[in-house]
Amino acid sequence: MSDTTAVPQQWTPIHGAPYQPVPHRPERIAADESIARAARLREAMGGRRTVRQFSSDPVPEQVVKDAIACAATAPSGAHQQPWTFVLVKDPQVRGLIREAAEHEERISYDGRLGEEWLAALRPLGTDAVKAHMTDAPALVVVFQQRYWVGEDGTRHKHYYVDESVGIAVGMLLSALHLSGLAALIHTPSPMRFLREVLDRPENEKAFAVIPVGYPADDCQVPGLVRKSLDQVLVEI
Ligand SMILES: Cc1cc2nc3c(=O)[nH]c(=O)nc-3n(C[C@H](O)[C@H](O)[C@H](O)COP(=O)(O)O)c2cc1C
Repeated sequence: MSDTTAVPQQWTPIHGAPYQPVPHRPERIAADESIARAARLREAMGGRRTVRQFSSDPVPEQVVKDAIACAATAPSGAHQQPWTFVLVKDPQVRGLIREAAEHEERISYDGRLGEEWLAALRPLGTDAVKAHMTDAPALVVVFQQRYWVGEDGTRHKHYYVDESVGIAVGMLLSALHLSGLAALIHTPSPMRFLREVLDRPENEKAFAVIPVGYPADDCQVPGLVRKSLDQVLVEI
């Protein structure tokens, strides 16, 4: 058992604090067990799909909160954890987000995206209608914290914010999938309206809206083929 799991304190900023090492002794898993776990995980992750047609059935809220807690274990530049997850259950607020997103998406699909981008989207069958925002029982809106403000009002830069939040969102999607829930990472562009609708502070910039729920009974997904391992792996 690792001693690092025994560090109990509530998080506070560590900016400028001295290096304080603690022992880390995770249990080593035997190679055959490791291989079996990796194969099971690979198969389970292979079944993840982006869902755009949701049932309105409620989801166990604790599953979503545990998935957000998993995402919040992600590595981050200088351990600055530059993320906020807003869990939106209120149907009225989901309606406001849908309305604002569809407004932006209509402008995008009517020409703002340009032919090159529209051609990239065509195989996905997406359009400006975003029913998933009100059909799915929950939305997780992820914000990046571009900087943080110290107690004396000083602004401090966050490092590698895009990378850190991207990794956290990947972990969130994995956790939701492995817990039996479906999700969509939706990135309406531009998405400034999210900070206003959700009343988030100046230092936060919306990263994605993630509807979470169960697929609708008649759910369909685009027939996509993933690159094979030998198309993505270079061994040297
Ligand atoms: C950064 C990012 C942004 C995305 N934005 C959207 C989006 O705005 N709308 C949408 O329908 N899908 C969006 N997707 C989902 C992708 O289209 C989807 O992951 C891809 O087509 C592969 O399908 P799969 O997730 O089922 O494997 C996004 C995915 C990523 C990683």
